[in-house]
Amino acid sequence: MNQETLFIAFSTQKGGVGKTAFTVLLSSYLHYQQGKSIAVIDCDFPQHSIMEMRKRDQELVITDPYYKRMAYHQFKEISKKAYPVVASNPVDAIADAQKLIEDSEGKIDIIFFDLPGTMNSKGVVLVYL
Ligand SMILES: Nc1ncnc2c1ncn2[C@@H]1O[C@H](COP(=O)(O)OP(=O)(O)OP(=O)(O)O)[C@@H](O)[C@H]1O
Ligand SMILES: [Mg+2]
Repeated sequence: MNQETLFIAFSTQKGGVGKTAFTVLLSSYLHYQQGKSIAVIDCDFPQHSIMEMRKRDQELVITDPYYKRMAYHQFKEISKKAYPVVASNPVDAIADAQKLIEDSEGKIDIIFFDLPGTMNSKGVVLVYL
């Protein structure tokens, strides 16, 4: 069956309640444990907290022997690369997702969008008058 990539973004009426944390946990669970192909578009401009988290992880894996060993075992066990994280913003997010789908070799099952802390950010809500 030819299924399209699913787009998911979590939103809440209040900021700071775990949207980013839940996005990372669910993405990682589905990608590493459930065999899904995941990508994350980090729209929380300019903090880009998931992107920053990914940079810290990459640095740890290179510099710390413990995390280097863990990364090696994980890669050996599941033969799978880390899911891509793209730095974006709410205005360009959909175009960036389309580009990711076009550029990806295999199919991406789900793309998660991590939204900014407030809906008052340009591009989060489209108003048609
Ligand atoms: N399950 C959890 N247990 C404990 N602390 C958590 C949990 N989930 C998130 N946090 C903490 O709560 C804070 C807010 O989480 P997070 O950044 O994920 O929220 P957010 O909704 O994305 O915030 P924002 O609206 O600013 O984007 C962070 O300090 C995070 O470390
Ligand atoms: Mg957040």
